[in-house]
Amino acid sequence: MTSEAQVQDDPAPLVACTVSRDVQNFDLLIEDMETELGEAWGDLSFADARQFFRQPESGALKFVAIALDHDDGDHLAMVADLIEAAKAQGVKVILVADEVSPMALHQLLQLGAEDFIPYPLPEGALRDAIARLDTPRKAAAADFVDMSAAPAPRAPLPAAQPGAHGIVLPVQSVSGGAGATTIAVNLAWELAGIERKDPQPRVLLMDLDLQFGSVSTYLDLPRREAVYELLSSTDTMDDDAFRGALMNFNDRLSVLTAPPDILPLDFIEPEEVARLLDRARAHFDYVVIDMPTTLVNWTETVLNAADFYFAPFELDLRSAQNILRLRNALRAEELPFEKLRFLLNRAPKGMDLAAKGRTKRMAETLEIAIDVQFPDGGRPVRDACDQGLPLAIEAAKNPLRKEIQKLAASIHARQSDRLEAAE
Ligand SMILES: Nc1ncnc2c1ncn2[C@@H]1O[C@H](COP(=O)(O)OP(=O)(O)OP(=O)(O)O)[C@@H](O)[C@H]1O
Ligand SMILES: [Mg+2]
Repeated sequence: MTSEAQVQDDPAPLVACTVSRDVQNFDLLIEDMETELGEAWGDLSFADARQFFRQPESGALKFVAIALDHDDGDHLAMVADLIEAAKAQGVKVILVADEVSPMALHQLLQLGAEDFIPYPLPEGALRDAIARLDTPRKAAAADFVDMSAAPAPRAPLPAAQPGAHGIVLPVQSVSGGAGATTIAVNLAWELAGIERKDPQPRVLLMDLDLQFGSVSTYLDLPRREAVYELLSSTDTMDDDAFRGALMNFNDRLSVLTAPPDILPLDFIEPEEVARLLDRARAHFDYVVIDMPTTLVNWTETVLNAADFYFAPFELDLRSAQNILRLRNALRAEELPFEKLRFLLNRAPKGMDLAAKGRTKRMAETLEIAIDVQFPDGGRPVRDACDQGLPLAIEAAKNPLRKEIQKLAASIHARQSDRLEAAE
């Protein structure tokens, strides 16, 4: 580390600075700065930083890491000024936050801080944040589907029941690849066989990830033109058109796959999604929806119709940051954030106490409850997805399957209680 005096006297070789009330409160940051930058960084107090950014030489820095903890609540206005001063000099800002409220973080990010990392710093987080300062975001990878698969049987449409309102269970990954499709597919399949004896609940699985939806891959169903036709004409949709677009998986589960070609996510409007949901809820007891990871103009429609909105995430920085963004976006629009049920996927095993601690801290920092944890089911999960089969068929004893089965059982028990109470 380079001392404050050197920052003032010889700023040229410095790449970055930390700015904090007392950098000794952030010893892991000191270690990581040394690992990433060797001697080429300095540390500044808030007051010194204010002076420093008045000097044009400060523009030679690549970034500042402004570190805050819960005792800095009174300094937020000053920190906001510092971020603006740094931006004015063209210096990028990474926030390092130890128990700072999401609201405060949101405001500071809005002022132009490029990124934030929670403190204690996760392994490699500073390195990743520094790398992200230069790298444009990557686009999601496409999935490659065998479009030539033989057509699967059409689904018989269960009779609509007057006044029936199936429950809507969307699943949306907080960050791409966190497991939404695996969870949606297997949750739908478990619900469709949840009763010991027939009749089973009527379950529809809808893939609304219109671009890269992979429900069809995970259940080995073809993507059909009829889905495109249905989505392009919901205003004239009747039961026949709706039925015509559904597929049947193993005589038990009805599926609306994504259409064959990639469509813009705003191909469907909120009122069209509302019409689809109405029809689905009239015919089915459970409507499980695989949602795109992106927020779209009809996310609100689905969220409002949902009983719970499952949000799988992973124990990494990417998920933490996205949860924060998601919460801020929903709150700003006054949408029901409390419907979100955060599902930690690939959760650490019981023995991994350090990771358990990280999980607890993540929940506390983000002020969320982590309702369900799903274990890493390993290679068999990917294999089942590639085989186009639910885990219950392909790997019935897999630990991930067991947890999804428990979740399905608890949803169904709750729903059965509700129906009984209503009778
Ligand atoms: N708990 C788990 N254990 C093992 N493998 C898993 C687990 N959850 C998901 N996977 C695997 O991770 C990969 C990505 O999962 P999935 O496609 O469900 O994620 P997604 O959130 O829907 O991704 P996308 O953002 O592409 O829609 C798949 O190969 C899946 O088999
Ligand atoms: Mg998916």
